[in-house]
Amino acid sequence: MTKIEQVGRLLKKSQSPVFFTGAGMSKESGIPTFRDAMDGLWSDNRPEDLATPTAFHKDPAKVRAFYEYRRDIIRGCKPNAGHVAISDLEKSGSKVVVITQNVDGFHEAAGSSKVFALHGNIMEDRCNDGCPGSHPMGRHASICPMCKKDALRPNVVWFGESLDERLLLQSTAAIMTCDILFIIGTSGLVYPAADLANLAMQRRFPVIEINPEPTPFTDQVDIFLPGAAAKFLPKICRFARE
Ligand code: OAD
Repeated sequence: MTKIEQVGRLLKKSQSPVFFTGAGMSKESGIPTFRDAMDGLWSDNRPEDLATPTAFHKDPAKVRAFYEYRRDIIRGCKPNAGHVAISDLEKSGSKVVVITQNVDGFHEAAGSSKVFALHGNIMEDRCNDGCPGSHPMGRHASICPMCKKDALRPNVVWFGESLDERLLLQSTAAIMTCDILFIIGTSGLVYPAADLANLAMQRRFPVIEINPEPTPFTDQVDIFLPGAAAKFLPKICRFARE
């Protein structure tokens, strides 16, 4: 039996799979990851210059420009076969939960209905002064529609900021009650998100990792599939649906 068949069988038996995804999930869509040596977003930019509250306070225009650049990339891309495979699995009756560190909204766009986007949504803005709610972003808009201050920022989590407590609790509950976990396309270097996957290592259900490169999780997972998410997921999910 191939590893893909093995994983497909495990997924077929599962009632409540969780897919924990990172930037590699959207790589085949054309969106650069953060830490790839050649074209990762952090290979040219220091996170502390662009993705922190201090950076925004110091130079909001520079930070907004970086996010406009990333939004432009996302506008030109679409969900890939991996996102679609996960959504099709849900449509076939499986109680799929997606926990993602990605801010591109591609799991939702592909049709997944239960997505916990831990790091926010880059295509929205919110007020940095704490006005409630988020807004579909207007190109280059910076004035908060509620307080009228020049305070709009992307609706993402920056380094040094806390994750949404409710999302974190819901994600933890999903991991504690799932019967198979896929860790896909994440370097596992950013906390507290990575702790969700670490939590799973102490439990008794299969943990599968898909990534072209080994990560801090690889030695602890049950099956490691070395390669691209968009290549493996359609095959695995098709097998599970048959
Ligand atoms: P990283 O850029 O740190 O890691 C991307 C991972 O995807 C690496 O392990 C790659 O080997 C893997 N990868 C590359 N191509 C792949 C493919 N085609 N299929 C599957 N995997 C592939 O991205 P994240 O782990 O998501 O946070 O980074 C976590 C967080 O750090 C991000 O959410 C972001 C960033 O700073 C914030 O912005 C708060």
